[in-house]
Amino acid sequence: MDIAIIGAGNVGAALAKGWAKKGHNLYIGVRHPDDAKYAALKSQLGAQAKFVTPAEAAKAASVILLATPWGQTEQAVKSLGPVSGKIIIDATNPLKPDLSGLTHNGDTSAAETIQSWVPDAKVIKAFNTVGANIMEKPEVRGYKAMMYFCGNDSQARQTVKKLISDIGFEPVEAGDLKEARLLEPLAMLWIKSAYAFGMGRDFAFGLLKAS
Ligand SMILES: NC(=O)c1ccc[n+]([C@@H]2O[C@H](COP(=O)([O-])OP(=O)(O)OC[C@H]3O[C@@H](n4cnc5c(N)ncnc54)[C@H](OP(=O)(O)O)[C@@H]3O)[C@@H](O)[C@H]2O)c1
Repeated sequence: MDIAIIGAGNVGAALAKGWAKKGHNLYIGVRHPDDAKYAALKSQLGAQAKFVTPAEAAKAASVILLATPWGQTEQAVKSLGPVSGKIIIDATNPLKPDLSGLTHNGDTSAAETIQSWVPDAKVIKAFNTVGANIMEKPEVRGYKAMMYFCGNDSQARQTVKKLISDIGFEPVEAGDLKEARLLEPLAMLWIKSAYAFGMGRDFAFGLLKAS
C-alpha cells in the first residue's frame, strides 16, 4: 500500500519502520525533506521510503498517517492539498502544553476536529493509546499489545485494521469516530501512568478474552 507519513518524529518513525518491513511504499512528508536530521531514518528505511513534502506525500498515497503535535496539526492538514476519499489515520493526542490533560474533553475529540477540516476524507483514530516505544515492538511478555481504532467508514476501518496488524498490534474495533472521545482520554491515562504514577513507558494495554 502507498502510505504517507506526516511527521517523522517518535510516532512517524516507529510506524514507518514497521510498515517498511511489511513491504509498504512510504512517502515521509516533512517540511524540509533534505534536512540532515533525517539521515539515520533514511538509511534505516532504505529505498522503500521517499522523503518528500507533506503535499507530495499526500498526493502519492491512499492512506495518510498524521503524526504531528496537536498544536501543529491544523497547519499540517491544511498543507496536504486535496485529500478527498483518502484515509487519514489520526495518531495525535490533543495534549495541553504542560501535559496535565487534554484540550478536548467529553463532547468532542481531536479526531472529529480533523474530520471537520477535511470532510471528504475518511478519518480513522488509531495509534494514539500507547507510547511510540511500544509501537517499535508491540509485544509484552509474549502477548500482543492491543490497539483500539475507530472511524465512520467501515471499509477504511478494515484497511486500517490490517495496517495495525502489520505493525504487530492486536487491532480492536471501537465503532464510529465519535468514540475517539474515549480513545484520547485512554492515551492520557497511559501518559499519566507512565509519568505521574511511576509505571514508566515500558507497558501497553492488552485484551484478555475468555473466548
Ligand atoms: N510520542 C509518543 O509516544 C506518542 C504516542 C502516541 C501518540 N502520540 C501523538 O502523536 C503525535 C506525534 O508525536 P511524536 O512524539 O511523534 O512527536 P515528535 O517526535 O515531536 O514529532 C512530530 C513531527 O511532526 C512534524 N511536524 C510538526 N509540524 C508540522 C507541520 N506543520 N507539517 C508537517 N510536519 C510537521 C515535526 O517536524 P519537524 O521536526 O520539522 O518540526 C516532527 O517530525 C502527537 O500528537 C502525540 O501526542 C505520541
